[in-house]
Amino acid sequence: FEITWDAAEAEKGGWPSFMAKEISEGPEAIRNTLRARIEDGVIALGENETLTDEQLKNLDRIIIVACGTASYSAMAGEYAIEEWARVPVEVELAHEFRYSNPVLTENTLVISISQSGETMDTKMAVQYAAEHGAHTLAICNTQGSTIPRESDAVLYIHAGPEVAVASTKAFLAQVVGQLLFGLHLARVRGTMTDDEIRTVTADLEALPEQLAFTLENADDVRELAHWMSDTRSVLFLGRNVGYPVALEGALKLKEISYIHAEGFAGGELKHGPIALIEPGQVVFVVVPSPRTQPTMHSKLISNIQEIRARGARVIAVAEEGDAAVLPYADIVLRVGTTHPMLSAVLSVVPLHLFALELASAKGLDVDQPRNLAKSVTVE
Ligand code: G6P
Repeated sequence: FEITWDAAEAEKGGWPSFMAKEISEGPEAIRNTLRARIEDGVIALGENETLTDEQLKNLDRIIIVACGTASYSAMAGEYAIEEWARVPVEVELAHEFRYSNPVLTENTLVISISQSGETMDTKMAVQYAAEHGAHTLAICNTQGSTIPRESDAVLYIHAGPEVAVASTKAFLAQVVGQLLFGLHLARVRGTMTDDEIRTVTADLEALPEQLAFTLENADDVRELAHWMSDTRSVLFLGRNVGYPVALEGALKLKEISYIHAEGFAGGELKHGPIALIEPGQVVFVVVPSPRTQPTMHSKLISNIQEIRARGARVIAVAEEGDAAVLPYADIVLRVGTTHPMLSAVLSVVPLHLFALELASAKGLDVDQPRNLAKSVTVE
């Protein structure tokens, strides 16, 4: 009598893949990122997790460097940090940053975002920033990894181990980590009152449950993915924080389904991508909230009308209760209501699930996609 023990299967805990397991762990990942960092509704970052108040007050520029999925989480964080702390924030791909002769001073903060903490391109960007006099802050998932060790400060996201090559739960926690930092910075710089911060933290604390609800009610995403398993090209459209969500939705589909996919900003449609729209083309649209972003909402509805008029099929990711989108979409995937700067965390999840289900429907190995590595430690 012999017991056969497959360690990898055991680690998947009954899930068909690590990616499926890690998507299901999104709510827990966010809970862990938030843990002990909010007190009485106000942000309480530890001493090593940020710079001194004096340094934060003097900042006149923030550059966020990252690669791949982490760079899209950076784009989602950029809007919030700039809006809340009133500091100019820009995102640079780590490998471009280093060769662009960036202007760096002692009042520049370079934030790196990396799940592994070992991505060579990101590590080199951080080293470059430090050598040229900027402050460095790592937002990272892996304790004790190289990038945090080489940075002035580190905010760990505590998303838990991520094994699947395609990053999912870490993306959510990376956005939340940046939001925490943005609120802290806003408080130190006096650009938000404690009451204003409390309104946002209440929404942050509601995210895990909202996400759990989305995950438990995802049958329509599964059906859609199976129905679309022969699709050869998918486009994604979004505005504001929905734009990086569109880019991330497209990246996931490329990475694990090997389908041609591209993400665009809604306003850019008329400047080129609309030429790709033909009958039958599927377009995912990440719709902003009609309550909190009414102007952007109506602009995106106009985009949808332009797409539909050319015979494309529209799948909308929209806030629950958004009735205005119904006449214009073939399918609506619902997400919870939240603060606009937090919405990327909710709206990206149906897209992660869609990529997972579509790749599974095609019989592909979702955890180990061809040609890709979890952590790229070469330049
Ligand atoms: C690789 C992975 C991506 C990941 C990127 C950045 O390309 O395949 O999934 O987003 O590296 O990784 P990092 O560990 O720095 O977040």
